[in-house]
Amino acid sequence: PVIRREDYQPPAWLVPQIALDFRLGIEETRVTARLSVRRNPAGSAASTLHLNGDQLTPLAVRVDGEAVNDWRMDGADLLVELTGEAHEVEIETSVNPAANSQLMGLYASNGMLCTQCEAEGFRRITFFPDRPDVLSTYSVRMAGDKGQFPILLSNGNCTATGEGEDGTHWAEWHDPWPKPAYLFALVAGDLVANHAQFTTRSGRRVDLNIWVRSGDEQRTQHAMDSLINSMKWDEEAFGREYDLDLFNVVAVSDFNMGAMENKGLNVFNTRYVLAEPETATDADYDGIESVIGHEYFHNWSGNRVTCRDWFQLSLKEGFTVLRDQLFSADMGSEAVKRIEDVRVLRAAQFPEDSGPLAHPIRPDSYQEISNFYTATVYNKGAEVIRMMRTMAGPDRFRQGTDLYFDRHDGEAATCEDFVKAIEDGAGLDLRQFRLWYAQAGTPQVAVEASHEGDVATLTLTQTIPATPGQPEKQAVPIPLRIALFDRDSGRHAGERLIVLDTDSRSFAFEGFARPPVVSINRGFSAPVAIDMERSNEDLVFLAAHDDDPFARYEAMQSLVVQHLVAAVGGGLSETARAEGRKAIGQAFAAVLSDDGLDDLMRGELMVLPGVAYLAEQVLVADPAAIHEEREGLKAWLGSELAESLVALHDRVSGVPYSRDAAARGARKTKAQALVLIAAGDPAEGARRAIAQYRAADNMTDRQSALTVLCNLEGPEREEALADFLRRYQGNALVIDKWFALQAGSFHPQVLQHIEALSQHPEFTLNNPNRARALYMTAAVNPKAFHDASGAGYRMIGELIRKLDPINPQTTARFVPQLGRWRRIEPARAAMMRAELEKIAAQPGLSRDVREQVSKSLG
Ligand code: ARG
Ligand code: ZN
Repeated sequence: PVIRREDYQPPAWLVPQIALDFRLGIEETRVTARLSVRRNPAGSAASTLHLNGDQLTPLAVRVDGEAVNDWRMDGADLLVELTGEAHEVEIETSVNPAANSQLMGLYASNGMLCTQCEAEGFRRITFFPDRPDVLSTYSVRMAGDKGQFPILLSNGNCTATGEGEDGTHWAEWHDPWPKPAYLFALVAGDLVANHAQFTTRSGRRVDLNIWVRSGDEQRTQHAMDSLINSMKWDEEAFGREYDLDLFNVVAVSDFNMGAMENKGLNVFNTRYVLAEPETATDADYDGIESVIGHEYFHNWSGNRVTCRDWFQLSLKEGFTVLRDQLFSADMGSEAVKRIEDVRVLRAAQFPEDSGPLAHPIRPDSYQEISNFYTATVYNKGAEVIRMMRTMAGPDRFRQGTDLYFDRHDGEAATCEDFVKAIEDGAGLDLRQFRLWYAQAGTPQVAVEASHEGDVATLTLTQTIPATPGQPEKQAVPIPLRIALFDRDSGRHAGERLIVLDTDSRSFAFEGFARPPVVSINRGFSAPVAIDMERSNEDLVFLAAHDDDPFARYEAMQSLVVQHLVAAVGGGLSETARAEGRKAIGQAFAAVLSDDGLDDLMRGELMVLPGVAYLAEQVLVADPAAIHEEREGLKAWLGSELAESLVALHDRVSGVPYSRDAAARGARKTKAQALVLIAAGDPAEGARRAIAQYRAADNMTDRQSALTVLCNLEGPEREEALADFLRRYQGNALVIDKWFALQAGSFHPQVLQHIEALSQHPEFTLNNPNRARALYMTAAVNPKAFHDASGAGYRMIGELIRKLDPINPQTTARFVPQLGRWRRIEPARAAMMRAELEKIAAQPGLSRDVREQVSKSLG
């Protein structure tokens, strides 16, 4: 069944209060829910109370204390007939957490009990109007075996504890803030905490706990520091203060997503909590900082102001991603953070926007809401709000967000409410801008430059490609930060913000004796694709001289993209190819030797555009050919620049480990240099990789060395992999890396390796992190997935069929990879399509996978 945004109806019944009673057990948990319900004056006059359920049977239903019979099931839901204005409805259910392999609702993980309710998991615990516009105050009581569950946690504050019979104990929790059911959480298990305190700017003392399994507590300090930084930052940057005396974070090793912002009780995937230098890379540290921030920031953008319905998901996710991006930028390097965010957008969101699953950041319909926790809703959603901020400027934008929080505190709001508040608070006219919420597809902006007398003219034309259900598009306002460099002075006369809000428009710039060098979409001010013919000379100039660091990166990328796309298309003569490589080599040489660059930025500039993004540039791609051409370029750069690369690798190898920016930059550059050295000279690469592996006193260096070794065919590969496995036995997050490193390698036998790894005793499909480490890494590895034999497609197809009965939500994430078939060359496309058809034919497919497969087949 398709759920449509336009069909929204306010609930007929509200639930101002709920009392939940849990008798905890791994194999059976008994739940009694007491709902105080009353008619919604703003709702329909229906006498039926509609309670959602999912695989539940009511064991008892009581209304106002009396067992009643006038209830019935409607599919999985429970309908209760009520006569008056307000009632107390009590329902008993029983669930089996151990059997819950979907990891939605109440489930068991490593002997502990935990919950995941967003989006629709609460209905797997008890019958309830499981929609975000029903807000309730929660009182929770739980009782269980004290030895098995020494720690009992829920939202809000702990109000009472006590001992029961037969070694049981109990705890009562109360959350004073009304919330939708998706923010409910319960955790029970044998946990230890890293404890700290934070005093808010108005003087509230908050107890902070990060709960982990015993033995992991010394790996939680970075998460704790990140939490404290987040709390402080949100006060300063957005004026948002924490609103309870307690903030708990729990790390769980079986988790479908990154983390969850349950009120006062965030539940995290362990990979976004646990870190120490020996086991976590710099990227892992950054991931923890941003996810800790993200979930904390949801306390206001999500919890205090929540969503009216799930079509509004970007209201909280897009905004919260922007908030976590700004936070990370403030904690580290703004320039590098921006580059990384754009890289993610291009790798994950652009392909989504140009494929069969394209949807606006505020979708119009869905079958399974879990499928809409996408890069579009999250990352493009953040870009759309960032554009408002760019147009308003940070101060006026802040006035807009202040007004938004003020106006809608305690409410379930819509994206429209957000835009209106920014409009009113920041003083922007966003009437046309609202189209960004409604239209899918990445706008393409064609730029034509001309020059006459001393006037340079840029003619900008936007087109938004058709997407499923949206054949026609209207022009959107596209804010572009722009600077024109004078060729003689090498300088520009100041940056301007231009807004292209019609199909086509010309902008004139005076004072240029010669055609200027155009730096456009600086800072990636708009999430669009710029289509502009540019000489290698101009790009080399910008790569070396642009004062906007993102634009510098962008010029490097464009240089490589232009070259590789032309080379793969067969449109390059030998001379043109040599010239293209020479220009790229020149730009790289400048990056390697520029003393004005810090190493973090240097390392960033050395990253070549990924195959997915390159494939996106052509209508129909041969990803294997792109991969080979890209590898060819790496090998050429590696030998052409061997001397500087080796000198650079030597220099940064001498920098001792620390977490400061300089040392992190050294490690980043070290990794990039090593990759290129190995591409140019595998023997030298192997020697250096082995030395780097042996000398490593941190995971960043160890992993970057092993990445290179994994591509090699000699015995070094086996030896290093065996050493790594032995060294980190028992550390699940590092064993995940061991799987991912092999599944992501460009080794000729990578597919056989993956097949063998799927039989490895450490492999299991039941743990999402492990399943993704092997198979998601394989699915995004062009060498493995797009193997000409079709073996990669069959492997992912088979995985989908096998994993779906266990965990549909995690499984559905693999479908888009096969769903790209229309943009892939015909021989491969046919095999990809065949896999989708085979999946579609499997009986008992989950709603999650069915939606993605049927849309992908089109
Ligand atoms: N709201 C969570 C976040 O911080 C994501 C939870 C998504 N869960 C799900 N089952 N789809 O982004
Ligand atoms: Zn979120």
